[in-house]
Amino acid sequence: MVKKAQLTYDDKSLDLPLITGSENEQAIDISKLRSSTGLITMDNGFGNTGACSSSITFLDGEKGILRYRGYNIQDLCEHASFMEVSFLLLYGELPSVKQLEQFSHDITKHTMLHESLRKLYDAYPRDAHPMALMSAIACSLSTFYQDSSDPLNPDHIKVTIFRMLAKIPTIAAYAFKKSIGQPMIYPNNSLSYCANFLNMMFSVPAEPYEVDPDIEKALDQLFILHADHEQNCSTSTVRMVGSSHANLFAAISAGICALWGPLHGGANQEVLQMLKHIHEDGNDVKKYIDKAKDKTSNFRLMGFGHRVYKNFDPRAQIIKKTCDRVLSKLNINDPLLDIAHQLEEAALKDPYFIEKKLYPNVDFYSGIIYKAIGFPVEMFTVLFAIGRLPGWIAQWKEMMESKETRIGRPRQIYTGPNERKFLPMHKRQA
Ligand code: ACO
Repeated sequence: MVKKAQLTYDDKSLDLPLITGSENEQAIDISKLRSSTGLITMDNGFGNTGACSSSITFLDGEKGILRYRGYNIQDLCEHASFMEVSFLLLYGELPSVKQLEQFSHDITKHTMLHESLRKLYDAYPRDAHPMALMSAIACSLSTFYQDSSDPLNPDHIKVTIFRMLAKIPTIAAYAFKKSIGQPMIYPNNSLSYCANFLNMMFSVPAEPYEVDPDIEKALDQLFILHADHEQNCSTSTVRMVGSSHANLFAAISAGICALWGPLHGGANQEVLQMLKHIHEDGNDVKKYIDKAKDKTSNFRLMGFGHRVYKNFDPRAQIIKKTCDRVLSKLNINDPLLDIAHQLEEAALKDPYFIEKKLYPNVDFYSGIIYKAIGFPVEMFTVLFAIGRLPGWIAQWKEMMESKETRIGRPRQIYTGPNERKFLPMHKRQA
């Protein structure tokens, strides 16, 4: 039997079909609502609005479940590499040995940036935020590959995906090197994806540098944890921009900008700044817990709360263990970590946070790990962007391949003035 919902308003009633997903989540299909009734729906922040069907990521915020293509995030973090997970997100299946070799090879071939693009960094101020550079350079890639970035041509899409994945670590590391005035380090294609990135970030021509395999593994795991999260703000942005048939470079550039905001990917930078601030203010954790609860203050505990996870963030549980491992490996005793533990403990016992279901999210610990590895705070959101890239691309690809895709174009309820007679300048009041 076809399931349906019924909408009654005034003296009319309308049957609305129900859509059921593979995990039995249900949606009311309102696509004919406006044409049948003249009504639209209002959903500030899209908390109840499904914008697409997707077979990439499943998450259940109540149960704390996150799966990519059906595989639990815990299993992927433990047993797979970021390259394997990228392949899985993009093509739907875990790769065979041969497929993974080919995929890694195809990406590795494209790690260098055009020299003119490298020089573009010189045009920006030294203290430019690396997310601004990432977005600008990602979009600029489209100017170098004009003959192969048609979003409707499968061959162009294939090579653009490789280019995007290959060049993003180089773009990010160059942004960092520029900010500290060190020479940019060219990619080394004999290294793994993460080791190459660490090498470009932290090596200098004057000294030997060896990538620590434990740090490489931790970074790989962090990238896996961030690789996709269904229709979040930046992913929705990538889909929205892509729905106009802008090229993939442009769509990813827009996604980077969306991720930059402190309520989204920028939160990991904010967490560290908050912990530093609490430390400099005498480590008074209670004062900041009280401030977060005080409705007259704008202060929020950064790294707490999530639009979807209302019990726990499964990524935060994994990342917490990685954090302890990295800090003990690097022999780091970080007072900020003590503050983080105290905040977490206090908030998890506090009725305000319990009632509002505010738990540590993925950003709460990632910043501390990044700091321990040696990344400056400005790079934290950049690391999130590198991790999220395969998810953005997979979502874009799925959208472009779907026959149901239409240009994204929400409606509104207008609340401005009704029609007014135009007043010439000399008749207007001050
Ligand atoms: N500290 C204190 N109070 C909070 C916090 C917080 N971190 N988060 C939410 N609240 C309170 C709100 O004040 C609100 O209270 P009210 O009902 O009395 O008005 C209630 O909890 C619900 O908050 P909303 O903002 O409506 O929840 P929403 O689902 O829209 O927002 C968000 C989720 C943006 C993540 C929010 O919890 C927040 O701002 N957290 C801090 C920033 C952060 O860590 N962002 C990273 C998100 S994860 C990611 O992007 C990877």
